[in-house]
Amino acid sequence: MRLQIAILPGDGIGPEVIAEALRVLHIVGEVSNIELHFAEYPFGAAAWKRTGVPLPPGTLQACLQADAVLLGAVGAPECDDLPHEQRPETGLLELRRELGGYANLRPAVAYDAVAACSPLKASVVSGADLLVVRELLGGLYFGEPRGIATDGSAAFNTMRYSVEQIERIARVAFREAARRRRKVTSVDKANVLETSGLWRQAVTRVSHEFPDVTLDHMYVDACAMQLVTDPRRFDVILTENLFGDILSDEAAVIAGSLGMLASASIGGKVGLYEPVHGSAPDIAGRGIANPLGAIASAAMMLRYTAGLEQEASEIESAIRQALEAGCRTADLARGSAAKAASTTEMGVAVECELASILDRRCSYHAV
Ligand code: NAI
Ligand code: MG
Repeated sequence: MRLQIAILPGDGIGPEVIAEALRVLHIVGEVSNIELHFAEYPFGAAAWKRTGVPLPPGTLQACLQADAVLLGAVGAPECDDLPHEQRPETGLLELRRELGGYANLRPAVAYDAVAACSPLKASVVSGADLLVVRELLGGLYFGEPRGIATDGSAAFNTMRYSVEQIERIARVAFREAARRRRKVTSVDKANVLETSGLWRQAVTRVSHEFPDVTLDHMYVDACAMQLVTDPRRFDVILTENLFGDILSDEAAVIAGSLGMLASASIGGKVGLYEPVHGSAPDIAGRGIANPLGAIASAAMMLRYTAGLEQEASEIESAIRQALEAGCRTADLARGSAAKAASTTEMGVAVECELASILDRRCSYHAV
């Protein structure tokens, strides 16, 4: 199997964490008979500085021709005052729309080894393992009309959903739940929003196609509270764009750090894989960012784009083992006397664990 992967390191800590994801993918490429080809392209503020736009046409074309896109993060403080169309975040929205992935999958796992890193009690988060399935191409972020009054006195956005948009994302959530603990919690604000009323009806209809999966509905405000008081009650959380953006960042506290969270945007022409965090300008360039979200995104890429379930779970096991062996980047080292690992040291720790897992598998097959 041959996979052509477009790499968009982006800005801030993006290039730092992507380097570690590539380190881990190289091991998979060496040991298995999967040919992984990587090519890097400018994106975000880095591209804006060189070309005046955050998503140059060459980058977009390369992404559309690739089998998958692995992205670091975009955003830089010097771009904050740029016009909307030149901002790195606008480039990211444009890339997402062009690639067409409408389903954003964001797992949040409380690894036992770092359960104590969560600002929540370890007894609350320990064992939590949930997946947020966020609709990525609808709702407030894309709804028209949108704009700001010429005199700056008012601004408006539109939340809009079609039945078709809701049904297709619901099917993704139910399929994922069927492979997990078979429970979908659909999150909306049906007591206030018409879009949420439609959402609830459509999700309920789709649930009848999946009799083995249970469905419950929850208001987004209640869900925000339950996520931090009883996260173990969730398996798959299905929700719309804005709610999913906020809830998945909140779910980061379960995992111990925003730097742990991975994501996949699938269902479109090309899968897009990226850590949930942004470019973290406050720590960029210091070599201390947590690369596990980027590494776990690479695992998701193998799973969803290439169907390499075994290799994906092996990377996830390597992450778990590196944490169990005591490796901690600064964001996970809270309260610990040991010196925190650098971004590279964490990447190498995962690489070593993965090498020994793959080694065991290969020598087992050789016997
Ligand atoms: P952020 O995710 O970059 O950072 C939030 C906090 O988490 C910071 O204190 C940061 O140091 C920490 N953090 C994030 N990732 C980390 C990691 N891997 N390891 C250790 N600590 C980590 O969000 P923020 O500060 O709101 O945004 C910064 C820039 O990133 C902005 O320009 C924003 O627009 C952009 N952004 C881009 C995203 C993307 O590319 N997908 C997503 C979110 C924000
Ligand atoms: Mg976000």
